[in-house]
Amino acid sequence: MISGKLQKAINSQIQAEMYSANLYLAMSGYCMSKGLKGFANWLRVQYQEETMHALKFVDYILARGGELALKAIEEPPTSFGSPVEVFEKILAHEEHVTRLINQLHEVAVGEKDVAAQIFLQWFVTEQVEEEASASEVLEQLKLVGEKEAGLFYLDKELASRVYQPPAANA
Ligand code: FEO
Repeated sequence: MISGKLQKAINSQIQAEMYSANLYLAMSGYCMSKGLKGFANWLRVQYQEETMHALKFVDYILARGGELALKAIEEPPTSFGSPVEVFEKILAHEEHVTRLINQLHEVAVGEKDVAAQIFLQWFVTEQVEEEASASEVLEQLKLVGEKEAGLFYLDKELASRVYQPPAANA
């Protein structure tokens, strides 16, 4: 059984992950409308990753005999600026999510829930990757600057990203 406090915190995290999914889907649509198909693809894969994160928490609450309580999801913005600004926003958002995961881990520690702490380790590691992948694209974007050829090349690169579902036992 999961404690009421941890259940509440995980339900809030599901809301945050679903907002992240919608945010990246909105960014994907925005990039598509600007002719940046590769960026749009990268963000659509990111949307799939966030949906998977939300489902992972949903499955965890249910596996622990807890109660799923979905919350309303705030509307994401519709406009995100230049490609550099898009990735600055992604990185800032992932840093925010990392703080949320760390807070969730603190709740699990406070509740002396060792199983939840082990479960959350996956997300702690995932956040390192999430920040690193956003940061990598941001650095590349800063290198190419406003040069169209560089942006074109990077767009082609990002078009190759494919969603990889986690292994069944991950
Ligand atoms: Fe679910 Fe991008 O963190």
